[in-house]
Amino acid sequence: MKNIIYYFSGTGNSLRTAIGIAERIGGAEIISVRCDVENVSAETAEVIGFVCPVYEWDMPGTMKRFVENLKINPNAYIFMVATYVAIHGKSFETMEKLLSAKKAHLNYGFALHCVAS
Ligand SMILES: Cc1cc2nc3c(=O)[nH]c(=O)nc-3n(C[C@H](O)[C@H](O)[C@H](O)COP(=O)(O)O)c2cc1C
Repeated sequence: MKNIIYYFSGTGNSLRTAIGIAERIGGAEIISVRCDVENVSAETAEVIGFVCPVYEWDMPGTMKRFVENLKINPNAYIFMVATYVAIHGKSFETMEKLLSAKKAHLNYGFALHCVAS
């Protein structure tokens, strides 16, 4: 089974979260979204994770643009973890909209409360 977790992290909370999830699901490629999206396709992945902070009640723009341009397997199990300190806002709704445009769907979302960093 091919597991991929794409992450964006400014101060480390989301990266630490992505690493922890990868360990618990039996391993995953952990890929920063600050890369060329053309080189990191998820077309053959069976489990796809997105982990990022909440910025201004939503997903960071870098993560949005990455997902918009990412090629994915629409039949994969797709999850998102959003790290936040106070209000997680509409991150999951935004992700679902982006995935719907690719005929894929968010199967699971979790808002992880973190310390402000
Ligand atoms: C520019 C910016 C905007 C943020 N906006 C929010 C927000 O709207 N709601 C919230 O709960 N936390 C907000 N935070 C806090 C981060 O979501 C939180 O600290 C997160 O865990 C940081 O993850 P990271 O360490 O992976 O970058 C914001 C942080 C930054 C830097």
